Amino acid sequence: MECSTFRLTFIFLAIICKAHITKSQNLSCNSNDLTALNGFRQCVGSPVDGWGVIPDSECCSWAGVTCDDSTVTQRRVIGLDLHGRGITGEICESLADLDQLSTLNLSHNYLHGFLPHKLFQMQNLEVLDLSGNKFVGSFPLHIHLPRIRILDVSDNNLVGSLKSTICDRSHSIESLNFAKNWFHGEVPVNFGNCTSLQRLFLNGNSLSGSLPEILFQLEHLRELQFQDNGFSGPLAERIDNLSNVVKIDLSRNLFSGVLPDVFRSLPKLEHFAARSNKFSGQLPPSLMSSPSLATLDLNNNTLDGRISINCSSMARLTSLNLGSNLFRGLLPKNLSSCHRLNDLRLGHNHLSGAIPSSFQNLRALTLLSLPRTEISDLSSALRILQGCRNLSVLALSMSFREEEMLRHADLLFPYLKVFVIGNSQLKGSIPVWLRGCKNLQLLDLSWNQLSGRIPGWIDGFDFLFYLDLGNNSFTGDIPWSLSELRNCINSRRSFPPAGSLSNILILYRKGDGKFLAYNQFWSFPSILDLSYNKLNGPIWPSFGNLKGLQAFYLENNQLSGNIPNSLSEMRSLEHLDLSRNGLTGEIPASFQKLTFLSTFDVSYNKLSGTVPSGGQFLTFPDSSFEGNIGLCGSRPSLPSCQSQPPSDELPNDEASTEGTAYSQMAFGIGAAVGFIWTVSLCFLSGWVLDEGQRSR
Ligand SMILES: *[C@@H]1O[C@H](CO)[C@@H](O)[C@H](O)[C@H]1NC(C)=O
Ligand SMILES: *[C@@H]1O[C@H](CO)[C@@H](O)[C@H](O)[C@H]1NC(C)=O
Ligand SMILES: *[C@@H]1O[C@H](CO)[C@@H](O)[C@H](O)[C@H]1NC(C)=O
Ligand SMILES: *[C@@H]1O[C@H](CO)[C@@H](O)[C@H](O)[C@H]1NC(C)=O
Ligand SMILES: *[C@@H]1O[C@H](CO)[C@@H](O)[C@H](O)[C@H]1NC(C)=O
Ligand SMILES: *[C@@H]1O[C@H](CO)[C@@H](O)[C@H](O)[C@H]1NC(C)=O
Ligand SMILES: *[C@@H]1O[C@H](CO)[C@@H](O)[C@H](O)[C@H]1NC(C)=O
Ligand SMILES: *[C@@H]1O[C@H](CO)[C@@H](O)[C@H](O)[C@H]1NC(C)=O
Repeated sequence: MECSTFRLTFIFLAIICKAHITKSQNLSCNSNDLTALNGFRQCVGSPVDGWGVIPDSECCSWAGVTCDDSTVTQRRVIGLDLHGRGITGEICESLADLDQLSTLNLSHNYLHGFLPHKLFQMQNLEVLDLSGNKFVGSFPLHIHLPRIRILDVSDNNLVGSLKSTICDRSHSIESLNFAKNWFHGEVPVNFGNCTSLQRLFLNGNSLSGSLPEILFQLEHLRELQFQDNGFSGPLAERIDNLSNVVKIDLSRNLFSGVLPDVFRSLPKLEHFAARSNKFSGQLPPSLMSSPSLATLDLNNNTLDGRISINCSSMARLTSLNLGSNLFRGLLPKNLSSCHRLNDLRLGHNHLSGAIPSSFQNLRALTLLSLPRTEISDLSSALRILQGCRNLSVLALSMSFREEEMLRHADLLFPYLKVFVIGNSQLKGSIPVWLRGCKNLQLLDLSWNQLSGRIPGWIDGFDFLFYLDLGNNSFTGDIPWSLSELRNCINSRRSFPPAGSLSNILILYRKGDGKFLAYNQFWSFPSILDLSYNKLNGPIWPSFGNLKGLQAFYLENNQLSGNIPNSLSEMRSLEHLDLSRNGLTGEIPASFQKLTFLSTFDVSYNKLSGTVPSGGQFLTFPDSSFEGNIGLCGSRPSLPSCQSQPPSDELPNDEASTEGTAYSQMAFGIGAAVGFIWTVSLCFLSGWVLDEGQRSR
């Protein structure tokens, strides 16, 4: 009984199944569409993953193909989404024969060649995304895409002007993306005919001219991205017409003049950025009391006057960057009522006075950057700021000049990850309270006048990978415990458990005025810099443990003893400078196995013996070895080891050698191995600064 029920069910299922197969065969994809798709794949010249072999006519089941759900006629292809499939080659016009196509997404492949003009004549196309390829040539002049809503050709190599008929004949377009190409010329006035436009991306081109006022007629505009071009002229008051705008980015252009006081008319504006332009004058009151604004970035302009802000109305503000301007006066007390503020950068201004005590109420603050100001009273500043319990990044370089570092042990910054106060001529010693900053990852106290011993408790920082104490007056031994820094022992760093900060840009400012930007502070290289101090005693062999360290600077101290052989275990090391100490003995031959080493300097010590000649030693300049009494080797600048025993070598007249050494010492980096070049740029002496705080 049961058995026959089972059989019946089986037969029934088989019938359903057959019927289904027959049905879909009847409704296989339209033959024109099939031809067009096969034409496309022949053209691109690389196989498309998930597409049947040529006789297969079931194109509706091919990967990325969407057909309509017609049940009576052959099904038509209405969507083709092949983004990010590694497709190479050109696309030819046959694709335009898909005359029912409404969505075409070929973004993020390796397509090249010109844009096929016929693609820009497709009557049913609503979405066209060709971004992230290698297309060349110009944008088509004659465009007839009556139904287009989204058009994206960003991130290609397109050139020429933006002139086209697109806005005259496509009235439903909502998003136009021309970003990251090589377009030049002005914004065509007929963009004013794109009456439905909501988003316009022109960033990352070479466009110029002023912001055409015709854009301000576009009442639906929500997002305007014009950054990284050569736009100039003032920001017209007519921008007040854009009552729906949410985001405006004008950064890195040549805009000038006073910011118009029209922000009251932009009640939806959440993000306004105009960094690195030439805006001048005072902050418009309507901007500094905008109830909708969440982020404001006016870094690196020539704005002046006082920073006055009405936090009672700016309830949504989370990020404020007014750094590198000409603001003067005191820090505004009532800034502390911006309760959501978590990122505050006001450095490189003529601000003075002390940090207002009300700042302790900035409970959401995670980053405070105030370098290069005339702000004073470090001890009260630290006492106040410890009230900001979530503070992770504190960048105070070149402020608080010539003050005493606060010693008291009772300060507490439990979440501090980055503490930077370099080049401030600070006096005193390394403060005990730092010991409680268990999450510290980057500590820069360089270019000050700190003295005393480097405390042994520094190895208690489980996450520290960047320590710069260079150019101070520290004395005594190098604490042995520095060779125990856990985050320098592994080449894979670990990070504190608390949530990571994102979108933080910090520059490494160097002696020669060049700089490097990192998107995150944790992408900084791992550095231990104790150079230019008065340290004595030996270099501990246990430093060989630091297998993750990339740069080790001990130059200009009074270190003695041998160079430990074990340093050749520091296999990530790219830069090692031991010059101008009192080191004796030989250069360990095992250093030849340090394959990443691109700069090495042991000049002006008391070394003797053979200079290794293999591995990276082939690339180091003679100046790396000069000023040692007993070195010999196969270099022309050194006596050969057999013919002239080291004991015969006498130093030249000390004074004159020193004189030339300073100029030659320069930057032997020239000899660096090519692929390390970009990394090595950041290793010249300097100190860490927040983004955009470069000297002018
Ligand atoms: C194209 O596909 C990518 C990946 O899914 C997507 O991010 C992008 O938004 C699509 N383009 C359009 C215009 O929808
Ligand atoms: C808008 O399009 C019409 C034709 O459709 C044209 O006459 C007009 O000049 C265009 N406007 C602009 C600003 O180009
Ligand atoms: C302001 O926008 C409206 C549509 O919201 C438009 O009709 C008007 O022409 C615009 N004014 C200017 C001066 O652009
Ligand atoms: C902020 O405080 C200053 C005095 O410090 C005061 O003059 C100003 O009116 C205050 N501004 C607001 C918006 O509360
Ligand atoms: C600050 O904004 C609040 C709320 O919008 C308003 O009542 C107050 O008058 C403003 N203060 C100043 C000094 O403009
Ligand atoms: C402080 O940080 C914690 C963890 O990231 C978060 O949950 C909390 O809301 C923050 N405090 C404030 C006042 O923002
Ligand atoms: C040491 O710091 C001083 C400023 O305090 C600076 O002028 C000098 O160039 C620095 N020296 C080195 C070698 O970095
Ligand atoms: C500041 O802006 C100027 C142009 O006004 C630009 O040349 C410079 O590179 C910018 N500086 C930084 C650090 O972004």
